[in-house]
Amino acid sequence: MIPAATNVSEVRTAMVPWREAGETVAFVPTMGALHRGHMALISNAKKMAKRVVASIFVNPTQFAPNEDLTKYPRRLEEDKKLLAEAGCDLLYAPSAENMYPAGFATVIDPGPIATVLEGIFRPTHFRGVATVVVKLLLQILPDAALFGEKDYQQLLVIRQVVRDLNLPIHIIGVPIVRDADGLALSSRNVYLSPADRQHALTLPRTLKETAAAIQAGRDIGIALANGMAQLVDAGFSVDYLDLVNAATLMSTRTFDAPARLLAAGFIGTTRLIDNMEVG
Ligand code: PAF
Repeated sequence: MIPAATNVSEVRTAMVPWREAGETVAFVPTMGALHRGHMALISNAKKMAKRVVASIFVNPTQFAPNEDLTKYPRRLEEDKKLLAEAGCDLLYAPSAENMYPAGFATVIDPGPIATVLEGIFRPTHFRGVATVVVKLLLQILPDAALFGEKDYQQLLVIRQVVRDLNLPIHIIGVPIVRDADGLALSSRNVYLSPADRQHALTLPRTLKETAAAIQAGRDIGIALANGMAQLVDAGFSVDYLDLVNAATLMSTRTFDAPARLLAAGFIGTTRLIDNMEVG
């Protein structure tokens, strides 16, 4: 059974002996419904620090009113078993009342990096993510925190905030974990019917083919238009498919700096995001 803390004083108390022994701590923040992608974060965390803390908190402030907060999968008991098996030392699972007590008012606004791509379609999302992640980092004060590259823009938003606020924490990005059929693992994949899932496979396939076309020197605008058509043909309602500078997320039509393809769209009512390095 994994030791669990449900408020900031419990989590800090549990970590006192580690601090006294000078042990390093790596932190993996999650919203639960854990899958192999999360487990890759835990195993990377274990390689880099003596102690690993994971959090499970379905953060209400990063969901817009029309999004899936109430139906987001919650599987605390199974998650606890997975974390224990993976050798995680401590679970932090605070309640919403503990994280956002009456009178809570501070919001972290990450600036321009949060206004492109996802920020256009989910304008309040990254404020919620940045605020909760800064709170979690300050509550736990780890040496390092690990985030999946599946949420590539989130990773860059967190790097920006940690840099701007001088938080003394290394932010580590961990590569996307995919199922054998290519679909990037996500807690939201459980929403997909078997038929939807078949259509959803067009997303990683399109990213792969578009990346290959760009690498082969094809016109970037045409490669993106072809990719978009492929997604629409498969039944996607596409929010965006774009080639961006991998450091700034600014849209680019030249391929001279590290670049990444990012895409988002709906299959039915399920919104999927994915991304791929080009280079
Ligand atoms: O990626 C997630 O699961 C969440 O956005 C995070 C980082 C745990 C913040 O709620």
